[in-house]
Parts: sequence; C-alpha cells; structure tokens
Amino acid sequence: MRLTLGMALLALAAGGVRAEPSLERGTYLVEGPMACGNCHTPFGEAGLDMTRALAGRVVEQNDRFTAIAPNITPGGRVADWSDEELARAIREGIRPGDAIIGPPMPMELYHDLSDDDVMSVVLYLRRVPAVENDPGQSVYAMPRPAAYGPPVASNPGVPQGATVEYGAYIAGPLAHCLACHTPLGPDGPLYDTKLGAGGVLFEMPDGSVVRSVNITPTRIGDTSDEELDRMIRTGVKPDGHHLAPVMPFWGYAGMTEDDMAALILYLRALPPRF
Ligand code: HEC
Ligand code: HEC
Repeated sequence: MRLTLGMALLALAAGGVRAEPSLERGTYLVEGPMACGNCHTPFGEAGLDMTRALAGRVVEQNDRFTAIAPNITPGGRVADWSDEELARAIREGIRPGDAIIGPPMPMELYHDLSDDDVMSVVLYLRRVPAVENDPGQSVYAMPRPAAYGPPVASNPGVPQGATVEYGAYIAGPLAHCLACHTPLGPDGPLYDTKLGAGGVLFEMPDGSVVRSVNITPTRIGDTSDEELDRMIRTGVKPDGHHLAPVMPFWGYAGMTEDDMAALILYLRALPPRF
C-alpha cells in the first residue's frame, strides 16, 4: 500500500502526541524529572540509598499526618495489582479496593498524566529489582478527598517539544515543581491565586526548616536561562551557594535539553506573583 501525503501527515501528527508506552520513557521519567525516589527511596548513610530504590520510607510527620511512602518495587504489595490498577493508583490516587492515597504525593497533578506516560512508569516499576521492605502504614488524622478529580478514561497528553504547553506539563504532572512552589491553603496548594509564589516550608533531617521560593517572573525575571538551568539541575546558585537538598537534583540533572527549554519557557510565562 502506498502512503498518501494526507495519511503520512496524520501519522506524523499522531506520532507527535502519542509515543507508545515504553520502558525507555518510564526509565527517563522515574529516574529523571518525576523522581519518585525523592519520597519512595529510603535514606542510607549518605543520602538516598539507591541499592534499595523505591523500597519505601517515612516521608513526613506533622500534627495532621504521618505519611509513609510504600514499597513500590515488585517486593511490595503492588506486585499483586494489575497494570491498570497500578496506573489508576498513580494517576488517580485510588488503590484497588477504593482506598485513597493521601498527601504529600502530588495526586492533583499526577491526575493529568497521559496514558502513555503512566503506562511507561508502570512498565518501569515492574522491572526494578524487588526489594523486601515494609516501611509501615500512613496515619491521617485529617479528612481526605474521595477522589482527586473525575475518573480518567483516556488522556492523549501534550505533544513533546520546547513549548510553553509542554513546559506546563513538566512543571505540573511530571516534575510537580508547582506542588512544592505554591503556597498551601486549608484545602491544598493555592494554584488559582498563588501559582508558583513559593513559601512552602520543608523540615530537613537535621531539624532545620527551608522555605521554597517564588519561581514566577517576580523573582526569576533577572535570572538567565543558563543560571536557571544550573540551579534546577545541580542546585548551585549564580553566587555559588548550594540550595538545600529538597529538590531531587539527581532527577532533574538528566532532563533533555528540550525538556529544560520547555520548562524555562513555561516559568517565564507564569503570571508574576508576590
Ligand atoms: C512527595 C512524595 C511522593 C512522591 C513524589 C511520590 N509519592 Fe507515591 N506515595 C507517597 C506517599 C506518602 C504514599 C502513601 C500515602 C498513603 O498512605 O495514603 C504514596 C503511595 C504511592 C502508591 C500506592 C502504593 C501502595 O502500596 O499503596 C503508589 C503506586 C505510588 N505512590 C507511586 C508513585 C510513583 C510511581 C511516583 C512517581 C511518579 C510517586 N509515587 C511519587 C509519596 C510520594
Ligand atoms: C520537593 C519540593 C520541591 C520540588 C519538587 C521542586 N522544588 Fe524548587 N525549590 C524547593 C525549595 C525548598 C527551594 C529553596 C531551597 C533553598 O532555599 O535552599 C527551591 C528552590 C528552587 C529554585 C531557586 C530559586 C532561587 O532564585 O533561589 C528554583 C529555580 C527552583 N526551585 C525551581 C524548581 C523547578 C523548575 C522545579 C521542577 C522541575 C522544582 N523547583 C521542584 C522545593 C522544591
């Protein structure tokens, strides 16, 4: 059969939006911008213990909850879930049996993951080494929503490329920059009124507290693309100081040039906030 020009263009357009789910994409996402290990990988003597990657740990303890990120290697209970059940847990925050996943997993952002990306992550999780570890069960002394949005039937996603639109997809559903950089109201981050304004507090293992900064043009307006790229990938500021290790620099370091360009375009297009 000969391909007509129309068919070829259609195939190209489809190719731009839908890649097939792949282990390669899943590896890039989980070890890169999605950096699931920032919460799910236990600490060793010097930072995250990559020999027990994704085997679970206590993530946050405060007066409202003790959040424990479960073991999501094939050594954890996810081994008994179907691919669809695992995808639903990641994208909608609902486990088999309808138990909701609590904070601080950024469910309201993961809700907008594309079909291919969530299935690529599932492919990857099935392939990581199984680690035997039971980090325990979270306790929430606070109400949690019944769902983080409507059920997702299908989501073709945003075409990849160095565009503001794809940058928004990176800053939200993929890397959840916005979850850490948007101040919290009583019902979660104030995405509508304070998107990117910073001010979220993080307690460090040594007990000190670090505050996320404003990443809208109000603060980054005078920072060059090269300086932003370096801070995001390495945590080194223009004056040579190091940012506190709250961001998963190990994940952002491997982002493709196009993805970083898209992300920076998007940050520059954010409405300035104070
Ligand atoms: C900010 C921290 C954080 C990040 C980032 C995070 N998670 Fe989680 N995750 C958690 C916590 C905490 C829970 C458990 C919450 C609860 O007990 O309700 C959880 C639960 C889960 C569960 C349910 C597992 C089970 O056994 O119930 C899955 C699956 C999961 N996460 C996958 C992922 C994947 C895949 C990524 C990366 C794309 C990711 N998480 C990123 C904190 C995080
Ligand atoms: C887990 C929470 C978290 C995530 C995820 C996160 N950040 Fe941050 N970010 C912080 C905190 C906290 C600081 C401040 C650290 C400090 O002052 O030492 C910071 C600092 C920064 C800075 C330094 C700005 C300056 O002028 O000093 C930039 C730029 C930045 N983040 C951009 C991003 C981008 C882009 C992403 C997503 C790719 C991201 N962050 C994801 C918590 C986070």
